[in-house]
Amino acid sequence: MRIFKFDKIDSTNHYLKQMENKLDYDCVISKIQTAGVGRRGNTWVSNEGMALFSFAINEKLISQENFLKLPLIMGCSLLHTLKKLDDLDFKFKWTNDIYLNEKKLSGILIEKVGDWFIIGIGININNKDFGYASDIAISLSTVTTKYYDIDNLIYSIINDFKNSLAINSWEYTLKEINKYNFLYNKTVKVMKGDTCIGLGTCKNIAYDGTLEIECNNKIHYFNIGEIHII
Ligand code: BTN
Repeated sequence: MRIFKFDKIDSTNHYLKQMENKLDYDCVISKIQTAGVGRRGNTWVSNEGMALFSFAINEKLISQENFLKLPLIMGCSLLHTLKKLDDLDFKFKWTNDIYLNEKKLSGILIEKVGDWFIIGIGININNKDFGYASDIAISLSTVTTKYYDIDNLIYSIINDFKNSLAINSWEYTLKEINKYNFLYNKTVKVMKGDTCIGLGTCKNIAYDGTLEIECNNKIHYFNIGEIHII
């Protein structure tokens, strides 16, 4: 695992995507991003005090049926590592987010370039400033008033993920993310762009990684869509 550290960069995902001769688990960390990218083309507010990093893994490390499960495996590693740090009420919000006290603590952005997956993670750790996201975001430090070593946290997260891939126990990962399922029993609508493609009560994350939503006593399975709690 090679570590590339920056004080300031446009986006750690962008840097790794462009990088030639990548090796598995090459990792880019930056204190600040000037053009942090979120999912669906959103901007990711990237202030000092956040953990802002990306790492690369070749698709050969993952069986094809696990491609869709990647954010869930990553989410599970985030939950585990954060829980070891502080035993707080961290939750996993299908498909890519970690929540704490009903607010967003962390987001995962996975991009594919050629046969490489670039896994980018932003976590609100020591920062008190969330920019335009201040109503919906929370940082670890604002809850615990502690100060955290961001680099060590990043290495622990990547190590946990590496071990999960090596052990390859999807049953265990699924049990864990369902234990911390933020959406369980919440009423939601599923949006694809401006179109509502589902409405109902969230249940579990299913074996194939899809989200179960109950509507009129029938379970529907979603593998795509932005979840809005209503
Ligand atoms: C989301 O919730 O929309 C995903 C956010 C992912 C943000 C991280 S920060 C490090 C990496 N570099 C980026 O530009 N984005 C990801």
